[in-house]
Amino acid sequence: MTAAEIKAIGERAEAMLDALASISAEPDRLTRLYLTEEHRRAARLVAEWMRAAGLRVRMDAAGTVHGLLPGSNKGPSAGKRLLVGSHIDTVVDAGRYDGTLGVVAGILAVEELRRRGIVLPFALEVLAFGDEEGVRFPKTLLGSSVVSGSLRDPMLDLTDADGVTIRAALAAFGGDPDALEAEAYRPEDVLGFIEVHIEQGPVLEQLGLPLGVVTSIASQGRYRLTVKGEAGHAGTVPMATRRDALAAAAEMVLAIEAVGMIQSIGRTGDDVRTETLVATVGEIKALPGASNVIPGEVRFSLDIRAGTDRAREEAVAEVRRRIDEIAGRRGVAVRIETVHEKVVAASAPEMVERIAGAVEAVTGSPSHRLMSGAGHDGQAMVHLAPIGMIFVRCRGGISHNPAEYASPEDMGIAVAALVETILGLGAES
Ligand code: GLV
Ligand code: MN
Ligand code: MN
Repeated sequence: MTAAEIKAIGERAEAMLDALASISAEPDRLTRLYLTEEHRRAARLVAEWMRAAGLRVRMDAAGTVHGLLPGSNKGPSAGKRLLVGSHIDTVVDAGRYDGTLGVVAGILAVEELRRRGIVLPFALEVLAFGDEEGVRFPKTLLGSSVVSGSLRDPMLDLTDADGVTIRAALAAFGGDPDALEAEAYRPEDVLGFIEVHIEQGPVLEQLGLPLGVVTSIASQGRYRLTVKGEAGHAGTVPMATRRDALAAAAEMVLAIEAVGMIQSIGRTGDDVRTETLVATVGEIKALPGASNVIPGEVRFSLDIRAGTDRAREEAVAEVRRRIDEIAGRRGVAVRIETVHEKVVAASAPEMVERIAGAVEAVTGSPSHRLMSGAGHDGQAMVHLAPIGMIFVRCRGGISHNPAEYASPEDMGIAVAALVETILGLGAES
């Protein structure tokens, strides 16, 4: 593709992302959670773009939008499909590239293939999942778990902050909570899943590269912690006899931070401790929540990730040990519930090679391979088919933040690399 063509595609990507970013639950910031009215509007817009690109569109039982470009159905990959895409839900006060870029890149790649008159030997399907962030419900990757047939326990009775269950929200959205299992694709029908995603970190920018090739997605655990102490009068209960759940939780949060920091610098030289480890408490609530009442109960979240499953498991064990010690010393009870634990999701070696070749062909420089600390739909799709990801340079490494930015030039190059990757797969099929 010429530089002018790549630039034009990047500018289209930017315009499409701007249009999606205007669909939000809040007037002054981007918040688009799973199965909300905003999700519905974004899904409709994506479906319109898919239809305009010549795709056959449907929404599945989990609210995922599918756009299918039929192939020639000749040769060994006849009847199979290659999946590309990402998610259209966001975090609260989000950036405009996380997830949506992968959906838009898939649609633009289809447009480019059709512009060139190419008919692939397999079907190409663009997917727009609705639940990668796991913000509305204490559960994530529902859409990609459904498509990949890896939904073990849908936990449809989990509720959002307003007490609405996933089951009820799905039904209201037009999905079908009872048909989720029937949506699963069969591994023998799928050639792979490729996702374009903003890097959400600083590595590519530091290296001066527009694109990177993802080798794996970090091991991740999410937990919910409940600390129970005793509520009491802020004016009368002596400090020494209090069982303040918030003060205990505060100490626990600092202990969690300490675990993440100590292990991330490889304190003991042990393999496990030299892996990238991060531990975050992003949500906390004190009950009953009044300035003159000693907090009797605190609930908070814990997110722990590492480059290996063992490092993550060791870190969780260490967190549990420290939390138990704090709870015992302060006379509070603590319960830790596992929301999910996802093992490292490795890109398929053949996908890594194919994407690296495409990136090199498009950029004219050697490709860089990197791990993803962020979670992605690939963590579910890996159970269905070989996965591969193309990372796009992210300004300042800032993501999950309205300042998130990828340039139109880099997005155009990403679409070109996606097209090359698809064509490479087509040539060998
Ligand atoms: C999603 O962006 C995650 O990594 O939590
Ligand atoms: Mn994402
Ligand atoms: Mn995200």
